[in-house]
Amino acid sequence: MLFSKLASVSVVLPLALAGTNVDYTKLQTKQGDKLPDFSFCGYHASNDPLPAANRAATSSLSAASGDQTKRIQDALDKISSAGGGVLHLKAGEYQLSSGVMIPPKTSLRGDGAGKTKIQLKDGTLVAFTMGTKVSGPKAGTPVDITDKYVPVGSDKVTVKSASGLKVGQSVFIQRAVTQEWVVANGMANLEEGDHWLTPKDTVFQPRKIQAISSDTVTLDVPLTDQLDSKYMSPKLAPYTPPDASSEMGLESLSVTLNPSCSGHAIGAGGDPKCKGGMALSVLAWVTDSWARDVAVRGYNNAVGVAQNASRVTLQGLIITRDGETDSSNGYAADISIVGTQVLIVDSSTRVSDSKINMKSFPIVTQGLTAGPNCVVRYSAAQPYMQIQPHAHWAHGLLVDNSSATTTFINRGSAGSGHGWAINSGVAWNTAGDYDIQSPPLGVNWGVGCHGGARQKGNNGTMVAEKESVVPASLFEAQLADRKK
Ligand SMILES: *[C@@H]1O[C@H](CO)[C@@H](O)[C@H](O)[C@H]1NC(C)=O
Ligand SMILES: *[C@@H]1O[C@H](CO)[C@@H](O)[C@H](O)[C@H]1NC(C)=O
Ligand SMILES: *[C@@H]1O[C@H](CO)[C@@H](O)[C@H](O)[C@H]1NC(C)=O
Repeated sequence: MLFSKLASVSVVLPLALAGTNVDYTKLQTKQGDKLPDFSFCGYHASNDPLPAANRAATSSLSAASGDQTKRIQDALDKISSAGGGVLHLKAGEYQLSSGVMIPPKTSLRGDGAGKTKIQLKDGTLVAFTMGTKVSGPKAGTPVDITDKYVPVGSDKVTVKSASGLKVGQSVFIQRAVTQEWVVANGMANLEEGDHWLTPKDTVFQPRKIQAISSDTVTLDVPLTDQLDSKYMSPKLAPYTPPDASSEMGLESLSVTLNPSCSGHAIGAGGDPKCKGGMALSVLAWVTDSWARDVAVRGYNNAVGVAQNASRVTLQGLIITRDGETDSSNGYAADISIVGTQVLIVDSSTRVSDSKINMKSFPIVTQGLTAGPNCVVRYSAAQPYMQIQPHAHWAHGLLVDNSSATTTFINRGSAGSGHGWAINSGVAWNTAGDYDIQSPPLGVNWGVGCHGGARQKGNNGTMVAEKESVVPASLFEAQLADRKK
């Protein structure tokens, strides 16, 4: 039954005990949908490593008493306007009374998470922001995509006419939501007043044109959401992105909010003293930027990557929750992804005291979050902390080699009608509890889910269930194969 959607699956028992071998390239549905290619997540699409952690600093600051916001901001701005570089914050404590904006081509680097300590008292502040507000992209003229069906994993679409398109051009593979598609996904009859996506919404896949051959356009990153002419009229829409900030880093320091907002009520009835606070916010259109070895404590929502931000790596984040959770208005998210090609790697959500009630979503995607996005080796302290796409058809999320609970589900009337929250989600070699469900017109995958299922009736496409699998990380295997 679970294998009914698969045309061919290769599951071979290896001699070693490391796990069951799965050839990910062979996994595909009857309609030809494959696992998305997640190797494009991260800084520079993972073609280049992050800048070396020990590269030379441009200038240094030592800790001092009193508010350090202006001192740090001025030093960063000076480095950025001289062409960029690293501001080194020596070990010690630095108080911030308002937020710091990391300017383009500039990194703020401490001596280590336990050594360089950034402290804030105001839970409504964003401690660090990457990017500035920019106006939207300049839209070109969309052209129709004429294929009957383009499966997930394909990097080619056929257009009505490719004249006027250029290699290197940014494009959205986009489709308006149709009522037929909403109905066929079982989303037309949510509770009164709730609505899932409507024909006013557009599902976007941001890409670049890699090659053009007659009317066939090859994209830089394969699709993470299928295009089915039975339900939609997809288009390829050229656009010019706004001038975006890039090459920004936050490294080797801790950010602590005290008094803590962790666990305080969120949403409309939430605690006003904690509204809007975050340790790091990556704004729209930011690209090729990162946070590495950053310990965050006391926040409710710790890190956010906005829509249209791309190619961001968050590596070695340790998020500690240190307050009893008031869930009267739902749960906070430690990390929220709305951007694309985001890589969260070797990171964790922890609790300061396992005896008190602390719950959160370690990682969520929001409505229409465009893939690929990757979570690699994430651990979360307690099973009810679940990595969960939150709402409205995000696509192309990988949860890879992680121990956090992972749920790809229909959230039904939750919220305003969050409904099917994810398509082309892949849980690969996960040790936590899991619910993997597929929407009627999509597919979510569980490959090597070896924790305890939380709910009967996982109807996603399950492969090697209850076994750990080899390769241990799909992201790394796909990246190695692409670089061959
Ligand atoms: C991202 O880009 C899309 C397409 O131009 C636009 O509709 C949307 O508002 C943008 N979002 C943000 C946060 O800039
Ligand atoms: C990653 O996979 C290896 C091999 O299956 C396993 O030993 C390790 O615990 C996994 N890491 C996480 C964070 O789940
Ligand atoms: C999986 O189950 C959910 C509800 O349990 C259902 O809405 C959905 O249609 C099922 N998906 C498939 C592909 O059968």
